[in-house]
Amino acid sequence: MRGIILAGGSGSRMYPVSRIYSKQLTLIYDKPLIYYPLSVLMLGGIRDILIISNEETIPHYRTLFGDGSHLGLNISYALQTAPNGIAESFLIGRSFIGNGPVTLILGDNIFYGNIDFFYQALQRTSGATVFGYRVSDPERYGVIEFDRTGRAVSIEEKPKSPKSNFAVPGLYVYDNSVVSIAADLKPSPRGELEITDVNVEYLKRGQLFVEKIGRGVAWLDTGTPEALLQASNFFGVIEQRQGLKVACIEEIAYYKKFITRDQFHAVVAAIPRSSYREYLDRIIATDEV
Ligand code: G1P
Repeated sequence: MRGIILAGGSGSRMYPVSRIYSKQLTLIYDKPLIYYPLSVLMLGGIRDILIISNEETIPHYRTLFGDGSHLGLNISYALQTAPNGIAESFLIGRSFIGNGPVTLILGDNIFYGNIDFFYQALQRTSGATVFGYRVSDPERYGVIEFDRTGRAVSIEEKPKSPKSNFAVPGLYVYDNSVVSIAADLKPSPRGELEITDVNVEYLKRGQLFVEKIGRGVAWLDTGTPEALLQASNFFGVIEQRQGLKVACIEEIAYYKKFITRDQFHAVVAAIPRSSYREYLDRIIATDEV
């Protein structure tokens, strides 16, 4: 399974900071936003990762992650020249995807809690899996309608009158047909290749699996300054209470055995003095993982 993180977009809602850097680099409590979706892919055991972004931002991701080898990952980068839609990821990433399945996560989507729903989706060998998460403002998202038996019957992108409260989070697992489906899409009225249109096509083919995510999982929005503050506060509370970090990619690489103990020590030794470093030093000292 290969993984794509789409971390582009115009981010104009985050003006003025969007003039100098993209939202996915903003700090969520103690680390850039993109660490959170990256950690989800890593927890799913995905090590071949393509980060798609714009020309200005790719160099910053390269500074943060390089080729990923120090984390036992294989990270590459590709350019989205304009915000042409989420589904364009599969065209930009066509050669990266090759003949296999692919997971896409949006660079501003944060999941916290038990992510078994994701691990189970990764086991599926054909079709597509999307998730349904109950929100109070479904009109801002892709929305799933269920029939009385709980089967998904429609998905609409940002509907004015949502047919349910279940939004589709920005985490999707696809078999290889996603590439040809994306290639056949026409741009929507907002001029984008819509991920919802991809999912509707899978639904038409009887190949879409929709799994509801329970209320014990947090799917956090990061679309507005208020939402970013809420997410920072949320992770600040959790991390201070537990003394554990969320989305600490070095820790996850070690815990998932992507790197050896010696490699982990070398990675930590290269991190400048900071609370982030102190946390990793503590793991080494106690070998808590
Ligand atoms: C996009 C998708 C939408 C999905 C959302 C999740 O919305 O189009 O279906 O629910 O991501 O974050 P956008 O970021 O384009 O507003």
